[in-house]
Amino acid sequence: MEYIKIFAPATVANVSCGFDSLGLAVDAVGDEMTFTKTVEKGVKITNITGADLTYNVDENVASAVVQKILKEANADFGIALTIHKGYAPGSGLGSSAASAAGAAFGTNQLLGNIYSELALTKFAMFGEEVACGTPIADNVSAAIYGGFVLVRSYHPLEIVKLPVPSELRIVAIHPQIAIKTKDARAVLPEEIALKDAVTQWANVGGLISGLYTDDYNLISNSLVDIIVEPARKGLIPFFDDVKNSAKKAGALGAGISGSGPTIFALCKGDTIAKNVYKSIQESYKKTGIDFEMFISKVNQEGIKILK
Ligand code: HSE
Repeated sequence: MEYIKIFAPATVANVSCGFDSLGLAVDAVGDEMTFTKTVEKGVKITNITGADLTYNVDENVASAVVQKILKEANADFGIALTIHKGYAPGSGLGSSAASAAGAAFGTNQLLGNIYSELALTKFAMFGEEVACGTPIADNVSAAIYGGFVLVRSYHPLEIVKLPVPSELRIVAIHPQIAIKTKDARAVLPEEIALKDAVTQWANVGGLISGLYTDDYNLISNSLVDIIVEPARKGLIPFFDDVKNSAKKAGALGAGISGSGPTIFALCKGDTIAKNVYKSIQESYKKTGIDFEMFISKVNQEGIKILK
């Protein structure tokens, strides 16, 4: 294979109660990337559209990952990369993760598919480290595995792909402000009370049980984050209004997507998702802040080959 074009999906990390350990891939939004083999070794970025990102190959998340894999695989070729960002960095939808995961996936295809999904996730985590200083796995594993994932362990890395109830829909609103993951991590508590930990891990267990049993009530009751959301929601203008509008219109629950500012709601079925979309849209129109929205199914495939 000399050339590949791929779609790398946006992702919702944490999914309320699962800070750094749960993630899901969306279908509606993502990046496109192309990879072309070059005789000259190493990586170069030939075009970036859709966002103002660096062409410096050590600092750009995608090229940093490509470079690392080519070196580790001792490849006898190089890669010329193009990146089209389908959504904004700093949105909370795993923008750096889409670049990192897409880079790992595309490079692996040109290498003849020699790495497992777990190995690709590790490479992509390096990209997250380049982006925000921490090798977080929730967004990148969701992008690579697709569907709903649990990062069961970081050391050693273990990813569990979870089932997705067929009617699960995501509604998301992206207020047009940027929040850096690093900044959103700086506001988190260093310690939490045992009783809060009990509530939180019970909700993670409940959410996962709900996914396995198609129990939308259990999913709804468990989609609660009493640790990270209270610390971060002040960074997102009108967060509570969005959450209330979503719930009033029938959402199973709503929370911060990754480190924000995107707010996601999970819904059962297309009709409720449309109502939730309208309700959030009406409430946010009043704020005077620009925003973008989408409705999506959960993306079961993860990264897709386009050409
Ligand atoms: N789990 C990470 C966080 C995701 O919430 O900081 C970053 O997008």
